[in-house]
Amino acid sequence: MKFPNDFLFGAASASYQVEGAWNEDGKGLTNWDEFSKIPGKTFEGTNGDVAVDHYHRYKEDIKLMAEMGLESYRFSISWARIIPDGDGEINEKGIEFYNNLIDECLKYGIVPFATLYHWDLPLTLEKDGGWINKRTSKAFVKYANVCFKAFGDRVKNWITFNETVVFCRLGYLTGAHPPGIENDPKKYFQAIHNVFIAHAQAIKDYKKLKQFGEIGITHVFGPAFSIDDKPENKEAAYHANQYEIAWYYDPILKGEYPEYVLKQLEEKGWTPDWTEEELELLKTAAPLNDFIGLNYYQPFRVKKNDIAEEQENSRENSTGAPGNASFDNVYRTVMMDDKKYTKWGWEIAPDALLEGLRMLKADYGDVKMYITENGLGDQDPIIEGEIVDIPRIKFIEAHLKAVKEAIKEGINLKGYYAWSVIDLLSWLNGYKKQYGFIYVDHNDNLNRKKKASFYWYKQVIEERGESL
Ligand code: BG6
Repeated sequence: MKFPNDFLFGAASASYQVEGAWNEDGKGLTNWDEFSKIPGKTFEGTNGDVAVDHYHRYKEDIKLMAEMGLESYRFSISWARIIPDGDGEINEKGIEFYNNLIDECLKYGIVPFATLYHWDLPLTLEKDGGWINKRTSKAFVKYANVCFKAFGDRVKNWITFNETVVFCRLGYLTGAHPPGIENDPKKYFQAIHNVFIAHAQAIKDYKKLKQFGEIGITHVFGPAFSIDDKPENKEAAYHANQYEIAWYYDPILKGEYPEYVLKQLEEKGWTPDWTEEELELLKTAAPLNDFIGLNYYQPFRVKKNDIAEEQENSRENSTGAPGNASFDNVYRTVMMDDKKYTKWGWEIAPDALLEGLRMLKADYGDVKMYITENGLGDQDPIIEGEIVDIPRIKFIEAHLKAVKEAIKEGINLKGYYAWSVIDLLSWLNGYKKQYGFIYVDHNDNLNRKKKASFYWYKQVIEERGESL
């Protein structure tokens, strides 16, 4: 079977991880411009000042994407390029940059899929409380409207936020991302709610503009599975899925937060400050979501947590590998002997993607979905100057097979975006961990080179995945 004609084969990036040009053409400072320079926060002190210089090389990069046959490029817009202080004046140079980038995609027939927020928050807003302050939600809505009006004639696919769980959890529970706050569940849940009302208002505004494109949000998709049949571990997995899936997906797709979590938040005094009006906004916005984006890297194998210990909030503990207790100490994620893992300890499990998609269909029906990120973080093998990233090919192949199977089962999946189109800055792992189809030589002027996976993905796209 070939993939259906309306299925998009894409690849993704994010502004802070590729652009560089951190202080050029009127861009304002962001939380990450500051945070990444605090000693010890990132791997070997890496930051996005230059990143892979996509800001200056986007033409070369998009030409390579076109050569690969890429059908869609998911990129993110840096809010601080558009509105440098978050909610004040518009920076025309910022608009110009994304106009050029979008036009360059369209020149080759590549569908631009734009994310409005992939974690780089204007510093002025961060200093004023960031996502804890509803000023940030309002500012986001204003910024989103500026983008819809400037780019909406050509951008017909919008994602409001990328992975709320990650920037809120790492921002307010482990402290590994800005604003670097540790162990503050009250703030964590507040930040999430403030993001969701910003999302809800932004999609309502988008629909009013009648640009006839589609809009949604992207969440991490990390379904939890019990390590065995013991009732206490099954309960732990249920708890994990309520806090990690339902808490995020329900308010977007059903318009209300899940009862199970709500009840516990109330008992613990963690309920966000919200108004009836905001809860109503979530309800009325829910049916307006055109799709949900899923970033799938790994599932979680969980068991009841029976070790009462203080969490150590190190950077290493925040880079995604299992082996930690949940923030509320109810469950623990574990590595299992019979599973396969990447060099960074992330489980490789295409079968769990398929199983998870079935769970989503059962809970949320036929909602349209895109895999907006999926890929292998690796230290790629280089043999005689060639980047032979066979493990990446095997990884993506297996996951695309799962996607194909899901489509055959009637799951409404409309695209797959590999993470990432080009090697880029990993927030906490620097440049050592690579994801791209295109290699960037940090020892030679950031020169681009096609990896083995580049040619492989090109072929997959050409034959629309028939031989997968
Ligand atoms: C996702 C993010 O969480 O995972 C990306 O959306 C990120 O921005 C990717 O790069 C991979 O994470 P890491 O830690 O391996 O770079």
